[in-house]
Amino acid sequence: MLINGAGGGAGSFAIQLAKAAGLHVTAVDSAAKLDVMRGLGADEVIDYRVQDFTRTGPYDLVVDLVASRSVFAYRRALAPRGRYFMVGGTTRTILRLLTLGTLVGLLTRTRLGILVVRQGPAHFVPLADRIVAGDVTVRVDSIHPLEAVPEALARHGEGRALGKVVIAVADEPQS
Ligand SMILES: NC(=O)c1ccc[n+]([C@@H]2O[C@H](COP(=O)([O-])OP(=O)(O)OC[C@H]3O[C@@H](n4cnc5c(N)ncnc54)[C@H](OP(=O)(O)O)[C@@H]3O)[C@@H](O)[C@H]2O)c1
Repeated sequence: MLINGAGGGAGSFAIQLAKAAGLHVTAVDSAAKLDVMRGLGADEVIDYRVQDFTRTGPYDLVVDLVASRSVFAYRRALAPRGRYFMVGGTTRTILRLLTLGTLVGLLTRTRLGILVVRQGPAHFVPLADRIVAGDVTVRVDSIHPLEAVPEALARHGEGRALGKVVIAVADEPQS
């Protein structure tokens, strides 16, 4: 499996869940996050500014958090009967995948589509349980007070955060 954008908030969970499922994981992100991704269990890491993952495969499964490439580039990354799922990225890529992607998938016996994560406790409690049990790690980059929200958002937006950027809204209530 390859995870593109694997060093971010969603990808860091994806690496751990894929490893727990017994998959061989290739994780793609910027250079500063390669060690973090290895630490989360990635078997191989790729710096997206140096290597194009659509030419390093093929992969049986690709999950893309930051999709912006052409359908043909994603098709090239796939092994026979491989699957590509976009989770986040540009609106243009969503439209391409829903139209051309469906057709290319049918013609080449692969699957290219969108993965929509369902909301709500039923879907998130199992992950929360695994975190509480210590099976899945939440890496915290930094904790900021409420008045430092602009700096915290800038840290995340500029790609400097190596893990979750947490806003501490108030102290825990005293009992
Ligand atoms: N469909 C759904 O139900 C669903 C659910 C959850 C999340 N999402 C979406 O998934 C996306 C990711 O969310 P997130 O919270 O994980 O974001 P995030 O924490 O910002 O992580 C994105 C990661 O991608 C990296 N990146 C940026 N450009 C890249 C490129 N061209 N190639 C490879 N990696 C690249 C970023 O690194 P640098 O900044 O260092 O380059 C960053 O580490 C968002 O669009 C979010 O809306 C969708």
